[in-house]
Amino acid sequence: MRVIILDSAKDVAQFAANTIIDTVNRKMRPTLGLATGSTPIEAYRAAIDAYKANRVSFAQTVTFNLDEYIGIKEEHIQSYRYFMNQHFFSHIDIPLSNTFLPSAASLNEAQLHKNAHQYEEAIKKAGGIDLQLLGIGENGHIGFNEPTSSLRSRTRIKSLSESTIEANKRFFKNGEYQPRLALTMGIETILESRQLLLLATGSKKANAVKDMVEGPLTAMCPASALQLHQDATIVIDSEAADKLVMKDYYLWCEQQRQDLE
Ligand code: PGA
Repeated sequence: MRVIILDSAKDVAQFAANTIIDTVNRKMRPTLGLATGSTPIEAYRAAIDAYKANRVSFAQTVTFNLDEYIGIKEEHIQSYRYFMNQHFFSHIDIPLSNTFLPSAASLNEAQLHKNAHQYEEAIKKAGGIDLQLLGIGENGHIGFNEPTSSLRSRTRIKSLSESTIEANKRFFKNGEYQPRLALTMGIETILESRQLLLLATGSKKANAVKDMVEGPLTAMCPASALQLHQDATIVIDSEAADKLVMKDYYLWCEQQRQDLE
């Protein structure tokens, strides 16, 4: 696991955008795994700037998002499809037909199981994911894989935990319906991506970051599953790094890496 500690959230976003751009420029038909939430918004903005400056084209890129709320139509302002169009897709040259999120508008359980299975198949058919972008919940979730999620889980229906519902309340108006179920890629689905890039900023994430990087491998902290991946990079700002016992070591490793380069 590579841990990169940067000064600010802005640096984290720029690092993420550069990694996305490198992947897209290196591959003939790049496949990106994308995330919603407040953390990646600035990274998308920086990638859009790079597109506008002709540093990258997304015309051949295929994307798969981690998750989608159940029972919310794509065009609804609270859907993750809407979020992705608004914050990223509508500003770049990616054909919308190349962008996928779990199909979760239905409230029929059998249909949702079928959609989850089809999502896994679509990822396989696309050749797997080259780079998966991730955030982390205050409770250590990745995607909507809440604590106690199976480390071998695949795309499926998941009930959101109380802490996630509470943390996401800020995106909903008073009295507005807030979904409690989602279709999410599983932990094993995520671990099959060739490269993982997890972003975390701010002091609220410091405990989850510590559990992920330095805690035991446990379903109680789903992000700790990244310890099993061969190419996982954690990019955090100094506030999110605050609880790391081996912080100096991670900084030293990055210094060594730069000297080598
Ligand atoms: P946030 O969400 O970026 O809005 O903090 C991250 C997550 O819950 O995965």
